[in-house]
Amino acid sequence: MTKKQNNEIQKVKAEILKEAKRVLEANWIEIDKDHGFTRPARGLYPFQWNWDAGLIAFGYIHYKIEKAVKELRALFKGQWENGFLPHILFHTEDDSYFPNHDFWGSQEASKYASKEVKTSGITQPPVAALAVWHIYEVLKERDENRAIDILKEFYPKLLANHKYFHDKRDIEGWGLITIYHPWESGFDNSPRWDAAMDRLKPENLPAFERKDILLINPKYRPTNAEYDKYIHMVLELKARGYDDAKIYDDYPFKIKDKVISSILYMADQELLKIAEVLGEDKKEINEWLTICKHGFLNKLWDEQDKMFYDWDLITNEPIKVQTAAGVMPIITGVLTGEQLKGMEEHLDRSNFCGQKNCAISLVPSVGVEDKLFDSEKYWRGPVWVNVNWFLWKGLLRLGMKERAQHLSTHILKVVDKNGFWEYYSPLTGKGMGGKDFSWSAALTIDLLGGDVM
Ligand code: SER
Repeated sequence: MTKKQNNEIQKVKAEILKEAKRVLEANWIEIDKDHGFTRPARGLYPFQWNWDAGLIAFGYIHYKIEKAVKELRALFKGQWENGFLPHILFHTEDDSYFPNHDFWGSQEASKYASKEVKTSGITQPPVAALAVWHIYEVLKERDENRAIDILKEFYPKLLANHKYFHDKRDIEGWGLITIYHPWESGFDNSPRWDAAMDRLKPENLPAFERKDILLINPKYRPTNAEYDKYIHMVLELKARGYDDAKIYDDYPFKIKDKVISSILYMADQELLKIAEVLGEDKKEINEWLTICKHGFLNKLWDEQDKMFYDWDLITNEPIKVQTAAGVMPIITGVLTGEQLKGMEEHLDRSNFCGQKNCAISLVPSVGVEDKLFDSEKYWRGPVWVNVNWFLWKGLLRLGMKERAQHLSTHILKVVDKNGFWEYYSPLTGKGMGGKDFSWSAALTIDLLGGDVM
């Protein structure tokens, strides 16, 4: 590369970084001097979302570390007494979203609910430990005492949250996490949940108005039929007081989710490092890691298809739908050589845009050759930055630098060309859903390493 070409690239990166920071600043809401949060997208998602908060912190870490800390503090304000961390925290009033806090009614329904902030009653993938550890890594270079204080502040909260997942969401002891609602997976309308959703027959639903489709073209969002079921499930969960024992008893949607389990595995690995730095007992965390590894290798892996599948606890069988989620266990770093080879083969196929056959060479949420693929519909085809960022991180940890770099280069290309959208069509690169989407901006800052400010 010539000096001129290099200068040109640095200029483009600096521009992307500037724009990404603009997005985060515009979406930020300061609660008080110690707490604040970043709306995932103004209008569409006006509150704090759990896994968004963890991912967004990865952006601030590189240029305003205090904001990353404030974001995570605000998130844990919503933690319930049993360690559960809800998926939405309603720190402010805003009527542009449904279902709002009154619909969830978590403080009335559960004795464990946070008294400090109104929240939803379901959770999301646990990303916070990853962010806390990354804050420590970056901060310790210039202020080790402060970095350790941050670990001390968050460790008990993280531990309680991970313990909740292992104790309450894995009563089978498989090391794999059970979800109660597609929204818990983060992959809301993924075909992974279709069969389980088909079994639900909502009756006598109260009238409700969707707010998302007042803001976004309905063809980019889940259908009304899906929303009826989402709302039906919220009501069923609320009727059980958001109580795990009651839910496990007779609630009709219980699925072992390979993505949330993979992310928890990664988060447990970081929690172990935090415990190590703080001199805390690591026995329990080590046990979680051992059991979870066993679950991945034995329960979710399909030898014939060379793919990881979720497991439906109601029918007691694997959910044989191939999506981007099937390669996400890469991020655990525990796969056997054969499994990793299988994952690489999937990544190289045209179905996953591995053959220069898509406008964006990133992994789409559903394979482009799959009969269920829809290039514009939320988690049924579009490319998401967070999925590809996770894969980038996982591949780097495995030392697979070239593959990792392929993903980071293409994430930078798509955001440079199209801006920071919630998701993109793999066929055209068009951005859709929420505009100025926070985690797309934050994870781009993380990819750039904050090195060109
Ligand atoms: N992603 C959901 C929504 O679309 C909520 O978590 O509102």
